[in-house]
Amino acid sequence: MKDIKELRQAMHEIDPIHVARWSPRAFSNQEVPESVLYSVFEAARWAPSAANIQPWHFIYARTEADRDTFLQFINPNNARWCKEAPVLVAVMSKIDAERFGGYNIAHAFDTGTAWGFLALEAARKGLVTHAMGGFDREQAKQLLDIPENYELHAIVAVGYHGETASLPEDLREREIPSGRKAIDEFTSEGRF
Ligand SMILES: Cc1cc2nc3c(=O)[nH]c(=O)nc-3n(C[C@H](O)[C@H](O)[C@H](O)COP(=O)(O)O)c2cc1C
Repeated sequence: MKDIKELRQAMHEIDPIHVARWSPRAFSNQEVPESVLYSVFEAARWAPSAANIQPWHFIYARTEADRDTFLQFINPNNARWCKEAPVLVAVMSKIDAERFGGYNIAHAFDTGTAWGFLALEAARKGLVTHAMGGFDREQAKQLLDIPENYELHAIVAVGYHGETASLPEDLREREIPSGRKAIDEFTSEGRF
């Protein structure tokens, strides 16, 4: 694998953790200590949210039985690599809020922020994270007893980076950090 620094270059000065974080598929079988896992959730805890509602909820699976349950609703294409991850986390948010007279328009926005904070803290702790949208939401809601007023956004594999050689052959060539659009492709001054 190429050096991560060759593949990702920041255009402006930032904390290097933003560029160092990426989403590999190879996980080692090293356990994540509980204190480290809780540090990762602690980072999510401090994310800003509309009216400080903190609409996010994370269900984590560490035991074999819990991970097996997750693997039932994760698409086979994702399951084939994330089955090695020691922790799988379902990221969801509470859709409603009394404070807003019913619907919380910011529930997904805020939960995205929380997952972003989680991913960066995980990277800072030497972990890797890989979010997945490829899973059966209805089946997941049923198997995990998720209430109707929660929306499930992603499953995140969390663990320590493993050897590329441990992956199925077709996934090995994809085990490379990706690049990004230039800033002027997603910003505009004054109006769109
Ligand atoms: C909401 C969301 C859904 C994703 N779904 C999948 C997925 O189902 N399978 C997969 O291999 N990667 C998935 N990814 C990972 C993205 O492809 C990856 O984050 C993106 O290509 C940027 O690469 P990087 O995270 O390595 O910087 C998902 C990421 C996010 C945030």
